[in-house]
Amino acid sequence: MKDLIGNRRRLDLGRKARLLGLTVKENGLFYTGLLGLYYAGSAVSNLAFERMQTLRKSRGLPGVNSRSLNAEIWNSWNWEAGGDEWTPSAEWKTSLVENVLKPRVPEASDIIEIGPGAGRWTEHLIPRASRYQGIDISSTCVELCAKKFAHAAQASFRTNDGNNLPGVEDASVGIIWSFDVFVHINLADIASYLDEFQRVLKPGGRAIIHHGTNAGHTGGWRSDATTSELNALIESKGLQVAEQFKEWTDPATGDKHPVGLYDDAVTVIAKPA
Ligand SMILES: C[S@@+](CC[C@H](N)C(=O)[O-])C[C@H]1O[C@@H](n2cnc3c(N)ncnc32)[C@H](O)[C@@H]1O
Repeated sequence: MKDLIGNRRRLDLGRKARLLGLTVKENGLFYTGLLGLYYAGSAVSNLAFERMQTLRKSRGLPGVNSRSLNAEIWNSWNWEAGGDEWTPSAEWKTSLVENVLKPRVPEASDIIEIGPGAGRWTEHLIPRASRYQGIDISSTCVELCAKKFAHAAQASFRTNDGNNLPGVEDASVGIIWSFDVFVHINLADIASYLDEFQRVLKPGGRAIIHHGTNAGHTGGWRSDATTSELNALIESKGLQVAEQFKEWTDPATGDKHPVGLYDDAVTVIAKPA
C-alpha cells in the first residue's frame, strides 16, 4: 500500500480520477472513503517526518536521539529477542560475523564494545578477546550482559554517560566494535566518542562502527549524522577513515548483504600507527 501512496506523484489528474472511479466501482464508497483517509493521513505524516528532520538540523535539536532519551528507551526495551529483532535473516547474521567481524577483529584483541545491548555481537567478540569491556548507556543492558556472560573471565560490563569510555586506560585498546548503536547517536556525542577513541586506542588500533548516513531522512530513528559530517569529524580528531561500506559480498555464496535497512554504513576508523 505504501508503494501505491508513494507512486501518486507520477500520476496526472486524469489517471487519478480513473483510479478513483475504478476503486469505487470495485470496492464501494465505504472502502474508498477509508482509502482516502489513509492516503491523506500518510501524506500528512510524511510531510511531518520530513519537516522534523530538517527542523532538527536547522535548529540543532537532539530529536529523539539525545543521551537521556536513548537511556530511557533502552532501559525499558523488551530484550527477550536478544537483539535479533534487528537481524533480517540468519544468513545475514552469520555472514556478518564471518565476513565483517572476524576479518577485522584479530584473535586475542583487547576489545571494547559500545552498546552491547543483549549481547547479539558480544558472544562472537568475547572468544576473540584477551580482554573485553562492554560499555552501554543502559543499566538494563549492562545487568543483562553481566549475567549472560558471567562465565567469561576476560569480560566486564559497565554503564557510561552515552559519550565517554570511563575506566578505560589511555592507549590500551586494539579494537572498538559498535553495531546498531551509533545509528542512534547524534554528531555532538559522536564527537566526544571520537575524542575517546583517540585517547584509548593504541597506535594502529581500529574502531568498527555501524552508523547512519543521511541524518534520518530514510527513517529508522537515525541520528543527525551524515557520512560527510562524520568523515570530517574523524579527520578533525587526527583519526583516519580506513574503510567505509554499505554492503559486503559473501565469498561463499556471492550474495550481497546490506549492513542496515536504512542506507546505513560501516566505517572502520584507524588511529595512525
Ligand atoms: C539497537 S540496540 C543494539 C544493541 C546491540 N548492539 C545489537 O546490535 O543487538 C542499541 C544499543 O545501544 C545502546 N546505546 C544507545 N545510545 C548509546 C550511547 N550514546 N552510548 C552507549 N550506548 C548507547 C543502547 O542502550 C542499546 O544497548
